[in-house]
Amino acid sequence: MDHFIYRDGILHAEDVAIPEIAARVGTPFYLYSTATLARHYRLFDEALAGLDHLVCYSVKACSNQAILRILAELGAGMDVVSGGEYRRARAAGVPGGRIVFSGVGKTREEMRLALDGGIRQFNVESEPELRALSEVAVAAGATAPVTLRVNPDVDAGTHEKIATGRREDKFGVPIDRAREIYAEAASLPGLAVVGVDVHIGSQLTDLAPFEAAFAKVADLTRALRADGHAIDRLDLGGGLGIPYSRSNEVPPLPADYGAMIGRLLGDLGCEIEIEPGRLIAGNAGVLVASTIYVKEGEGRSFLILDAAMNDLIRPAMYGAWHDIVPVPEAAPGAEPRVFDVVGPVCETGDTFARGRPLPPMGEGDLVAFRSAGAYGAVMASEYNTRPLIPEVLVDGDQFAVIRPRPTFDEIINRDTLPPWM
Ligand code: LLP
Repeated sequence: MDHFIYRDGILHAEDVAIPEIAARVGTPFYLYSTATLARHYRLFDEALAGLDHLVCYSVKACSNQAILRILAELGAGMDVVSGGEYRRARAAGVPGGRIVFSGVGKTREEMRLALDGGIRQFNVESEPELRALSEVAVAAGATAPVTLRVNPDVDAGTHEKIATGRREDKFGVPIDRAREIYAEAASLPGLAVVGVDVHIGSQLTDLAPFEAAFAKVADLTRALRADGHAIDRLDLGGGLGIPYSRSNEVPPLPADYGAMIGRLLGDLGCEIEIEPGRLIAGNAGVLVASTIYVKEGEGRSFLILDAAMNDLIRPAMYGAWHDIVPVPEAAPGAEPRVFDVVGPVCETGDTFARGRPLPPMGEGDLVAFRSAGAYGAVMASEYNTRPLIPEVLVDGDQFAVIRPRPTFDEIINRDTLPPWM
């Protein structure tokens, strides 16, 4: 459920009519709903209510300071994967003790940053990383809390590019070698083993792969405890999918996911951490664009928008579906037309959708891409020297720009000429 709904025939974000924002900010822009974000965070928090737990929002999904601040104030922890994300989380007021640091390529500088600033745990993904972290911690006179991210060799059944838990993926240490690597972790100075971490992929629409992975984590936890390790935390990663299309099958609800976690892992008495990103931010955001032209091509009509693949790359990169809806609802009885929805970027990959039924559209007409709050703005680029588009936040009947559109001078002046020119 989200808070983007039609009222009097006009798409609203909470209590604000989207055309009002478009008139003020100019298109294209990302638009987020505070109520939807808060609702989704609470769904996870409530789903794990029976267990000692921390919901660590995955910052990579949508990392605007205002978004992080909303979640931080609700009590969320954060999952970060770079020094930049660590800095963003801290700047939004998240205490270091609520931040977990994931990723296969943490640099020594990033480790030091987090050790100095405070960190809940490092989710370590390889033996070389473990050794580097030990050295950095010793040099800093600190003890680094660590989990090992295990690769359970489970296929998440999701898009090839976002499955992370198969043997051949670059993530984690093979679960079959985990006991040996935990033994090394326990023997290295500057490290304190605190738990086990797993994350098998993103946009999962079925609980079965999670269950398969978590069952392996439960067995491993018992074995590690028998080996003498204090395993008090289980970080189960993120990955629960969202409905991108209203007509598609509906992914499991956070409540079912939480119940499954309780059933498989509850008796271990560990603190449970989860790292949802998409389910919190995805349906809390839309991308609003306007029509530049309607172009009649060979046997097809192109709806050419002012948003492009550089603003929302998911369709080009993963063949992803986003519902595209008209901002003023179709007039009753209007014959739908079928469009290829494209942007102005100079490649055919800049196609959002083919053969989409929409009401008749003309120049200046607004559309909204639904489910664009996660992996939208954060994956944008300035390809074709198209400025990063603004982000806008709605809360009830108020709205504010939370990241302005840069000027062309700002963009061009970031380049510097070498001294010989
Ligand atoms: N934890 C770790 C270690 C992750 O790698 C990820 C996502 C998450 C948590 C959050 O997963 P979520 O709950 O959002 O599924 N750009 C792609 C998605 C990449 C996901 C990367 N890792 C997309 O647009 O579909």
